[in-house]
Amino acid sequence: MKIAVLPGDGIGPEIIAEAVRVLRALDERFEIEFADVGGAAYERHGHPLPEATLKLARGADAVLFGAVGDFKYDGLERALRPEQAILGLRKSLGLFANLRPAILYPELASASTLKPEVVSGLDILIVRELTGDIYFGTPRGRRSAPDGAFAGQPEAFDTMRYARPEIERIARVAFEAARRRSGKVTSVDKANVLETFQFWKDVVTEVHAGYPDVQLEHMYVDNAAMQLVRSPKSFDVIVTGNMFGDILSDEAAMLTGSIGMLPSASLNERSQGLYEPSHGSAPDIAGKGLANPLATILSAAMMLRHSLDRAQQADRIEAAVKKVLAAGLRTADIVAGGARAVGTGEMGAAVVAALG
Ligand code: IPM
Ligand code: MG
Repeated sequence: MKIAVLPGDGIGPEIIAEAVRVLRALDERFEIEFADVGGAAYERHGHPLPEATLKLARGADAVLFGAVGDFKYDGLERALRPEQAILGLRKSLGLFANLRPAILYPELASASTLKPEVVSGLDILIVRELTGDIYFGTPRGRRSAPDGAFAGQPEAFDTMRYARPEIERIARVAFEAARRRSGKVTSVDKANVLETFQFWKDVVTEVHAGYPDVQLEHMYVDNAAMQLVRSPKSFDVIVTGNMFGDILSDEAAMLTGSIGMLPSASLNERSQGLYEPSHGSAPDIAGKGLANPLATILSAAMMLRHSLDRAQQADRIEAAVKKVLAAGLRTADIVAGGARAVGTGEMGAAVVAALG
């Protein structure tokens, strides 16, 4: 079992350290190898995704990823920005299926900005296509100057594109996930305006013919954004393209009030996967021991379940997290007014202690 661990920038190294501590407590024999990624890799090797890091990730059974990015790299040309590391990993490992659960832990109901009756018991799964769409269309016509500026260039564009097999395989992931849940899929598109998404809608409908036991509804993305705050519990599995999925998954995460709690998995056709917290690198609190390590610890649980075939150990991590929450432990992002918050290390140690 080889795990590539890529801590990255900002709070990445702190939260990853706690997840690794939990993994080691479960089994000392995991083969864990670290490598640089993102801004940290740019500083040390001149590139956000060095060849050695990519090679390690390719050869591993799973990748545990912290976070990348910092405003200080905004001026760099696009190819050298930290975000290119995660996009490069997704593309080169073929990680097309991004699973982003948004679960409201009962203990944290008060953390949501929405009324408790709107969000209590919330448990939705966003299945975001991750290697196509406008993210990876040919950015033709762009003539990036070395300093990243457009220097008088008259226009810029990115092309939105989906090939049939790309839609078919993500639709299958969504329908299969729905079978293990409450049996409903909402496919989110913009078919009223975009050809790419009329195609998306048609292909999802075709694939659905093979899943008569699953209910399929179609929804325009603007309406979906609205329904997510109006009645989020009317959703179960949401399947959508890369761009809409990026936006809606942030919205869904924040319904729970605790983006510091939410893990994610990005899988390829061989179930090799990259696991990362849904939140970013939070450079403003980096190095202070304030970050919530639970999203990363729960990402490690997803890794054990989806890539390493160790569902029992995944269950143990998830149970331990519930236990520490029930015991009242809270990092600063989820603490209720007045209560004492614990630090990153204290939270990690508590999870280890609760593993039982
Ligand atoms: C995400 C992030 C990334 C994305 C960025 C960092 C490239 O926002 O994982 O949602 O846009 O996919
Ligand atoms: Mg995003």
